[in-house]
Amino acid sequence: MSKTSLPAPDHTAGLREALLAAAFTADGLLDRLGAAAYAALARSETVPALRATRGVSPLDTLVRLFLLQRPVPQEQARAALPLEECVQDGWVSVEDGLIRATVDVRPYGGPDGEDWFIVSDLGCAVGGAGGIGSHEEGVVLGVGGASTTLASITVRTPVASALDLGTGSGIQALHAAQHATRVTATDLNPRALEFTRLTLALSGAAPADLREGSLFEPVGTETFDLIVSNPPFVISPGARLTYRDGGMGGDDLCRALVQQAGSHLNEGGYAQFLANWQHVEGEEWQDRLRSWVPAGCDAWIVQREVQDVTQYAELWLRDSGDHRGGPEVYAERYEAWLDEFEARGTTSVGFGWITLRRSAAAAAGNPSIVVEEWPHAVQQPLGRAVEEHFARQDYLREQDDAALLAGHFTLAAEVVQEQVGLPGAEDPEHVVLRQHRGMMRATKVDAVAAGFAGVCDGSLPAGRILDAIAQLMSEDPVLLRDRTPQAIRLLVEEGFLEPVPGAASGEGPG
Ligand SMILES: C[S@@+](CC[C@H](N)C(=O)[O-])C[C@H]1O[C@@H](n2cnc3c(N)ncnc32)[C@H](O)[C@@H]1O
Repeated sequence: MSKTSLPAPDHTAGLREALLAAAFTADGLLDRLGAAAYAALARSETVPALRATRGVSPLDTLVRLFLLQRPVPQEQARAALPLEECVQDGWVSVEDGLIRATVDVRPYGGPDGEDWFIVSDLGCAVGGAGGIGSHEEGVVLGVGGASTTLASITVRTPVASALDLGTGSGIQALHAAQHATRVTATDLNPRALEFTRLTLALSGAAPADLREGSLFEPVGTETFDLIVSNPPFVISPGARLTYRDGGMGGDDLCRALVQQAGSHLNEGGYAQFLANWQHVEGEEWQDRLRSWVPAGCDAWIVQREVQDVTQYAELWLRDSGDHRGGPEVYAERYEAWLDEFEARGTTSVGFGWITLRRSAAAAAGNPSIVVEEWPHAVQQPLGRAVEEHFARQDYLREQDDAALLAGHFTLAAEVVQEQVGLPGAEDPEHVVLRQHRGMMRATKVDAVAAGFAGVCDGSLPAGRILDAIAQLMSEDPVLLRDRTPQAIRLLVEEGFLEPVPGAASGEGPG
């Protein structure tokens, strides 16, 4: 890893053309390497890809040079690249007739089949089982699981302005450049801004407004329609690596980010973050998160995973390769993590997604704040599901029980019913409604709710459907109307039922 000057972004068009001509793209790599070696490379394991690229084709050369970071003979490089230009601009260097890459250039497929390239520091994605290859503080990483998670939960409606805070190699800015007229990308680390410039240029995207500084400091009082950040969220015993250790103690950096985002959002704008948070003895984690939500904003916070402090320490010790430093160093560092957690009363750490939306209702003192745990598989991308969540909250906020009973609903697409019980039993023990898209939720319902959901095709108001169910099940219709709105509310909130716009009939109870 070197902190020497980075390539000049001047002649990226020629390099981009050469990379595309050689099929140095996400699809081209998959074809050339095969699924197993391709997947191994995503795990930073290089041996299978080295074996698959023993030829001299331009694609083999580019894979070896930029992904596997092996030197290649000059003539071989010349057949794959505008070599003189690349040497001059600093993408590669020459030594003893061999060409070496100065940066990692990784093909990355955009959501609509775009051929993009992410430029980052050498050595980060070729560590294999050993963790990242560099312990340097300012190392700039390429795409990781967290990067793609944030990209795929981001709301992608066209907007005028977007902010990528802590841009790193520029992946979020690259996505935002497709649907935001203006993209501002910030980072505490000036090298990250240079990498973002290269990523955007080499991917053929519009340049971003690049600004150095911490948190919202570089944007002053500016406001945005979209804010995204995959911040340095790791709760660690002291800042060592800028890309992951926020250096503010505990989960303070994530808290500050969320709290400050409110005043940088335009009306209707979204702020979306990945975050880690402490679970502290004597405190409900949901309360901790709720207290972070800034005034004027609705929030949807999803805890995806919880690790106890030992799992958490081990994860990040391995991430930085500390387990390779010898048993004594490892034990000392491990102790430091546990000391830190003990001092803060932290028992475990939650990982998840935080979305804020600035709304008039929240500004008027009626925010919708949902904090939930959903550790199960979801169907990415989820940007639409995020928007739909807030739209449903808007709808529910305005409906009292009478309005819900007068409303018309349809069963959401791809919801199925599962019956659970002993084989051969006459009645199921319980019924589960399951989604096959978006959050892929499952919820246990009683016979009334299952029957209700089953006939929701938008034609009848909810109250009428309940009256018919009451008759069929010999129940008191008034009692059923009384107790069911809560269940309808939950089914709407979780996206099993969709309100039919403008179809309320004025039909009330009784
Ligand atoms: C986990 S990386 C995310 C990089 C990239 N946005 C992605 O999604 O892959 C976090 C980034 O935040 C930057 N950073 C660290 N502390 C920061 C701070 N106080 N303010 C702004 N950026 C910061 C790091 O330099 C790093 O580039």
